[in-house]
Amino acid sequence: VEKPLAQARATEKTGFRPIRWVDGGVELIDQTLLPLEEVWLRFDGYRDVVAAIRDMKIRGAPAIGVAGGYAIALAGAEIAERADGDFMSQLETAGSEIAAARPTAVNLAWAVGRMLDLAAKLGSDPDIVTKLISEAKRIQDEDEAANVRMGEFGAALLPEGGSILTHCNTGALATGGFGTALGVIRTAWSQGRIAHVYATETRPFMQGARLTAWELVNAGIDSTLITDSSAGQLMRRGKVHAVILGADRIAANGDIANKIGTYSLAVLAREHGIPFYVAAPTSTIDLSLPSGDDIPIEERPADEVTHIRGKRIAPVGINVLNTAFDITPHEFVTGIVTENGVARSPYSLSLKKATEGTLG
Ligand code: MRU
Repeated sequence: VEKPLAQARATEKTGFRPIRWVDGGVELIDQTLLPLEEVWLRFDGYRDVVAAIRDMKIRGAPAIGVAGGYAIALAGAEIAERADGDFMSQLETAGSEIAAARPTAVNLAWAVGRMLDLAAKLGSDPDIVTKLISEAKRIQDEDEAANVRMGEFGAALLPEGGSILTHCNTGALATGGFGTALGVIRTAWSQGRIAHVYATETRPFMQGARLTAWELVNAGIDSTLITDSSAGQLMRRGKVHAVILGADRIAANGDIANKIGTYSLAVLAREHGIPFYVAAPTSTIDLSLPSGDDIPIEERPADEVTHIRGKRIAPVGINVLNTAFDITPHEFVTGIVTENGVARSPYSLSLKKATEGTLG
């Protein structure tokens, strides 16, 4: 008997990318304007890319890593053209500036480090700028390919016919292409494996309402947007069968830094016996930090909370706490989907194997 859910549904495997290298410059879709306006911006100087990362015109851990790679390529071209002083020390200074644009997602520092390592190896190679550009493109291509692999590993974990809850935006927009947790959802949907997706709106920056909802609608995935505070009641009513979301940094013990609200969802999922999965490429794993307590957590400006689209909604004079990320202890995590397979507890062993590609 053919189950209706088993019919393959058409969703694109790859295609849309939020950032691209075009004719010696970086183009990216302005994520502060989506979904109401689809505006592509062009940057020819690395400092403009730093500002775009800080202002979240591009955001999502792997996507800011890709942007950081292109920013180094731009900085390299600028320094080579100026041709005064030591190339490498100037590139390292630019690298520190780029890596400091946002502190929590390790993918940014990881990509900058990878680019600087290559530059150091190339030394006085006359083609250094061309080679840095190729390396940045490779970071993006590898990220997209990793996401597609994660899609296959992750989809197999999701309950058949289930409704899946996700948080923030982890789609093509947040990555080099395709998406991490949303990539898993895309794959599971195209396989006919899952029935429905709940996307949290993700206060205060609204990555869920603005960006995930846009990607879900574009992909034709049956989905419902919920307020962040609805998740508990939905779970209590048995409407959520698995949670899958992304990560900005994963410590060596499996503690997860991700968008604020992730920890609350993890606690709720455990209380209701719902599996809680994290999907992230190995570039998000930071084995140098023993636990989540060591991960730097970004505080964002107050006006993201007091204002909506530039209009004040809270009184002048109120104190505001705008912590952009939280830490979910590893005990709450059922499995971490990487491009090299699914890491499970004990994470101190499995994450190391994931980064080495020996998970089996
Ligand atoms: O502040 P943001 O929008 O950059 O935060 C993004 C997230 O928290 C995502 O869940 C995370 O980067 C994983 S994206 C594939």
